Amino acid sequence: MTDDHSEDHKGRLDKETGVHTTGHSWDGGSLEELNNPAPRWWVWMYILCTLWAIGYWVIYPSWPVPGGEARGAIEGTAGYSTYKELEKSQAEITARQAEYLGAFRSASYDDIMKSEKLYKFATTGGATAFKDNCATCHGSGGSGGPGFPNLNDDDWIWGGTIDDIEQTIRYGIRSNHPETRFNMMTAFGKDEILEPEEINQVVDFVLGISKEGGFEASAAKHPDGAEVFAYNCTACHGEDGKGIREMGGPNLTDAIWLYGGDRDTVYETVYGGRGGVMQAWTDRLDDDTIRQLAVYVHSLGGGE
Ligand code: HEC
Ligand code: HEC
Repeated sequence: MTDDHSEDHKGRLDKETGVHTTGHSWDGGSLEELNNPAPRWWVWMYILCTLWAIGYWVIYPSWPVPGGEARGAIEGTAGYSTYKELEKSQAEITARQAEYLGAFRSASYDDIMKSEKLYKFATTGGATAFKDNCATCHGSGGSGGPGFPNLNDDDWIWGGTIDDIEQTIRYGIRSNHPETRFNMMTAFGKDEILEPEEINQVVDFVLGISKEGGFEASAAKHPDGAEVFAYNCTACHGEDGKGIREMGGPNLTDAIWLYGGDRDTVYETVYGGRGGVMQAWTDRLDDDTIRQLAVYVHSLGGGE
């Protein structure tokens, strides 16, 4: 190894290029570094970038300081910070919401239905709250599933006006709230109210209503079942089987089933009863959200 930085190499004029060397040699002789200046454009870029950086430091928050104005950095002459931007746009949103919320709070459901702006405000807020709180049971579009009613159709167990829906949401169904909707399907088999024979008869009659041409036609075909029905079922499902809302007894004459319309499922319902539970939302959601939800559910298609 030779000494790369020896004096006699430094500043040597390279004859072939006419440029001085830096005195830096890799192999002790032939392979040397020429002392070319950096290209001018590069130098200018360098200077410009440096100036830009200095300007940036002055104008925008840059140097970190504990507890600075811009939360951890010096503020800069522009007084700009992304936190401030965020606060500003949040304040705008809150102000816009407050403008709607004030009108929404003092409006009746009638007013809301008549005002395009308030209706949109309610259904938009309701849709979000529905996804967060209700979709787990009722499905994201409210189409339900076995035991969880479809909220899109016009078949309502407990009522489909906005006020009905609000009450259902607020106090729940068979919830632990004192004002809950509470009636439930009796377990006719398990509680030995009916003989298995009678259960089979009434199940055939109930299936016949929707599948064999209606209430009368089924009664003519299954007279024993119709009799069992008249004695045991009309209190909650109505004389005509069309359901009684105050009792929560669903309409048995349509093709819409809460639990299912095949024979085994209907037998199971009559034998063991049901009693699906929906919690009361009055202590979990604020009034505004509950009212938004009521309007939203009503808007899903089947509202009355
Ligand atoms: C834990 C499951 C569950 C959740 C969560 C739930 N529900 Fe329900 N919901 C039910 C059940 C079960 C019923 C039907 C009870 C029955 O009558 O047998 C029901 C019934 C309803 C009804 C009455 C339908 C009718 O035909 O009368 C409405 C309206 C309703 N839910 C709205 C909501 C809204 C709005 C939310 C969200 C805030 C919600 N539900 C959250 C389980 C749930
Ligand atoms: C005390 C009131 C009450 C009586 C009496 C009653 N039901 Fe019900 N029934 C209900 C309720 C409430 C439901 C809704 C399901 C629940 O309990 O969650 C229901 C649901 C049903 C369903 C399921 C409907 C569906 O869409 O899946 C069938 C079927 C049914 N009842 C048949 C009968 C028959 C048959 C009788 C008579 C033997 C009878 N019910 C008597 C209250 C009653």
